[in-house]
Amino acid sequence: MEIIVQKNSEAATEIVARIVAQLLRKKPDAVLGLATGSTPLLLYKKLAEMKLDWRRATTFNLDEYVGLPPEHPQSYHHFMWENLFRFVNIAKKNVHIPDGMAKDIPKFCAQYEKKIRAAGGIDLQVLGIGSDGHIGFNEPTSSLMSRTRIKTLTPQTRRDNARFFRNEGEVPYHCITMGIGTIMESRQCLLLAFGQNKARAVAGAVEGSITAMNPASVLQMHPVAKICLDEGAASRLRKTDYYRWVYANKPD
Ligand code: F6R
Repeated sequence: MEIIVQKNSEAATEIVARIVAQLLRKKPDAVLGLATGSTPLLLYKKLAEMKLDWRRATTFNLDEYVGLPPEHPQSYHHFMWENLFRFVNIAKKNVHIPDGMAKDIPKFCAQYEKKIRAAGGIDLQVLGIGSDGHIGFNEPTSSLMSRTRIKTLTPQTRRDNARFFRNEGEVPYHCITMGIGTIMESRQCLLLAFGQNKARAVAGAVEGSITAMNPASVLQMHPVAKICLDEGAASRLRKTDYYRWVYANKPD
């Protein structure tokens, strides 16, 4: 696990944008795993500005709310087209986002997994983290081996996400999310976290024990995981000086 602490979200995002851009230049048919929410907004803005060639790239999003159609303003379909896809030359057929309106959800989830495998697996997975440590919508107690499936959002996640809706009552109770096992099979994970609200979850994930109570802690087992933080999100870490030192003295 590489812990990268930057002075603000802009600097942390810049690092991640460079890594994604490098991958797309080196491997134009790369498979990217993408997240939604406030955290990756600046990343998507930067990627759009970089004028990269997305024609042969494939994307798989982590999650979607059950019951929201793609055109719903709070759906993750809408989020992705609004904030990234409409600005880049990605082929629509290469964009994959869980279908929150799927009639047969277990069947849909099995197919989603199959499509990820058929695409050759995910080269790089972008992750945010919930204030309860979730990645994707794998809430505390999610199996660390889980695959894409339906999950129930915790009251805390529904409260956290109410800011995107008119009121908390509108936030769906269920989502389809890639599993933790699915995420762990991606060849590289880049987790971004900003703000003090994430500090406790980040500290648990980085310096705590590996536990299903903090799903992001499983990244300690991932061979190529980078955790890119601003100072707020890093504020509860005990070894920040050490992480900064390692980053400053990284081999070329
Ligand atoms: C969404 C996702 C979630 C978010 C997390 C943080 O696709 O995967 O795990 O990354 O809920 O959300 P924000 O960035 O809004 O704080």
